Amino acid sequence: MIEGIGIDVVDIERFRESLIRTPGLKTKLFTDREAVLPVASLAARFAAKEALAKALNARYVFAWQDCEVINEESGRPAFIFTGTVAERIDGATVHLTLSHDAGIASAMVIVERTS
Ligand SMILES: CC(C)(COP(=O)(O)OP(=O)(O)OC[C@H]1O[C@@H](n2cnc3c(N)ncnc32)[C@H](O)[C@@H]1OP(=O)(O)O)[C@@H](O)C(=O)NCCC(=O)NCCS
Repeated sequence: MIEGIGIDVVDIERFRESLIRTPGLKTKLFTDREAVLPVASLAARFAAKEALAKALNARYVFAWQDCEVINEESGRPAFIFTGTVAERIDGATVHLTLSHDAGIASAMVIVERTS
């Protein structure tokens, strides 16, 4: 059963400016593994976390670092959940897709529960 879907888009240049303007923002939003990525990938991962919040109908209740986006060997992105986000996900399957082009990064999330 589909529990929720979420989508988000991010202006990459504006996101770059926010990261420069607000020291500590990168550390707040991203894990060490994520933080070294190029800004388009960071913007897409920010979109992924926002899209997840929408799919879960959750407004600012989770720590951003409790949700990490990694790439599988094929390049396909996937979430790793810890802490309160892992508790909320509680074994559901979460599908994620990312895209970045033409100055925009975007993400779509589907939360699917089998039991
Ligand atoms: C809910 C949230 C994601 C909305 O983000 P936003 O950038 O303000 O929203 P966007 O401009 O991308 O999209 C707006 C649309 O989101 C939808 N939306 C608003 N609240 C929502 C909710 N609780 N659940 C799902 N969708 C929601 C609405 O349809 C809205 O459009 P509308 O007002 O025209 O109907 C954001 O407010 C939020 O809570 N972010 C926190 C994310 C977080 O905690 N992440 C931690 C890691 S999981």
